[in-house]
Amino acid sequence: MQQTNDRALSFSEDQDLELLFEFLRFRSVSTNPDDAPQMRACAGWLRELLARGGFVAEVAETGGHPAVLARGPEVLGKPTVLIYGHYDVQPEDPVDQWTSPPFEPTVRNRRVFARGATDNKGQILAHILGAIHLLREEGTLPVNLIFLIEGEEEIGSTNLDDFIRARRNELRCDVIAISDTGMVAENYPTLTQSLRGIATMEVIVRGPAIDLHSGIFGGAVVNPAAALVFILSRLHDNHGRVAVPGFYDDVLAPDAAERAALARLPMTDADILRESGAPALAGETSFTALEQIGLRPTAEINGLTSGYQGAGSKTVLPAVASAKLSFRLVPKQKPDRVLNLVEIHLQNILPKGVEMEIVRAHGGLPYVVDLRSPWCAAALRALEQTFGREPALVREGGSIPIVQTFHELLGSETLLLGLAAPDCRAHGPDENFPLQSFEAGIRLNQALLKELGASH
Ligand code: BES
Ligand code: MN
Repeated sequence: MQQTNDRALSFSEDQDLELLFEFLRFRSVSTNPDDAPQMRACAGWLRELLARGGFVAEVAETGGHPAVLARGPEVLGKPTVLIYGHYDVQPEDPVDQWTSPPFEPTVRNRRVFARGATDNKGQILAHILGAIHLLREEGTLPVNLIFLIEGEEEIGSTNLDDFIRARRNELRCDVIAISDTGMVAENYPTLTQSLRGIATMEVIVRGPAIDLHSGIFGGAVVNPAAALVFILSRLHDNHGRVAVPGFYDDVLAPDAAERAALARLPMTDADILRESGAPALAGETSFTALEQIGLRPTAEINGLTSGYQGAGSKTVLPAVASAKLSFRLVPKQKPDRVLNLVEIHLQNILPKGVEMEIVRAHGGLPYVVDLRSPWCAAALRALEQTFGREPALVREGGSIPIVQTFHELLGSETLLLGLAAPDCRAHGPDENFPLQSFEAGIRLNQALLKELGASH
């Protein structure tokens, strides 16, 4: 590992913000091969920041986009805490729907607008700066601290499992902390109790060898776009349930206590409807929106492509149609089994006259936090101290597959204390992060490290 301590940092709030802006200016879209140089530059910037802040830091090769691995000074007799985050971001499209350019961070209404502002650059930087400030002010940290900041979270952390396996001895820790989840309301302390898993695939339906004239062949040849939308329309029944046979076999019915806890949260279906901007909520008729997001699995179409998409019209019978699908999973569901069931279902209902190919992509298991652990109690205390009220416990619908991998490979539990506001617009246009959340996140990290250090 390399270390450069020669230009030690001294910080102020303005400098913290300037660092956030620098971080956000990197166009670190992991799914876009053209951005690979920016990804590497962004990792290098993080390494430099951590090294100047007193950490032994390296840009670590993973086989894909590199990760940044850093270690604070050794503190004998104290627990080891690993803080995980990601510096990669989702694509910025549709770019014309942004009020200001996605990679030119801009402050409006005390919020920073930029791709990655919340997910996850603002949140992970708050952790980093919290730790760097603490180390500078006190000369030492309350715990042995490891930062692992990867560049492939938004594309399924494909290379991180092997990386963790290869370096598991260095990564051994007592507990993991992640800020990459939401708050029930802005500035409302929130501990995430569970994450959904995910399974993804692409379905490609092929018909004629090339695009045909829809007048010359239409009617006589099966249209792959029509065949695709037919099979996709049978992913759900009329009651909002996933219609794939066997899909719910492993799903436990939510118990009354879980449902009651969700009903008590300071977030309602009306809030979700408002944030979504949709005309109405839908889904399984027997569950509230919060229950569906927190406790129920889904089948989603994430992208749909076929035929002519340009201006005006074109009378064509497309040769190919494809869709990107993802399934959110709840405890006991397994990505491979779910994809097997979906593949069988789609194959069974596929119209004659076309061929279907399924390309499986990334997946990840759900995670449920052990609320009885002393680490969890420490996290709840840190949240309460920082925000001055009792934290809410939520079940998140999003996925962070690496959390279950950490559990399997390192044996460590993860604390999920996210800072994302309900209207942060993660993955969408005008993603933003309140300045107040950034500042609170820095303090939260310091309270957390102190509580974890004291609870050993
Ligand atoms: N920060 C999210 C995960 C998240 C979102 C947790 C909402 C809780 C609530 C993360 O960056 C993310 O977007 N993950 C992907 C994972 C996928 C690409 C494997 C997701 O959930 O779609
Ligand atoms: Mn994300």
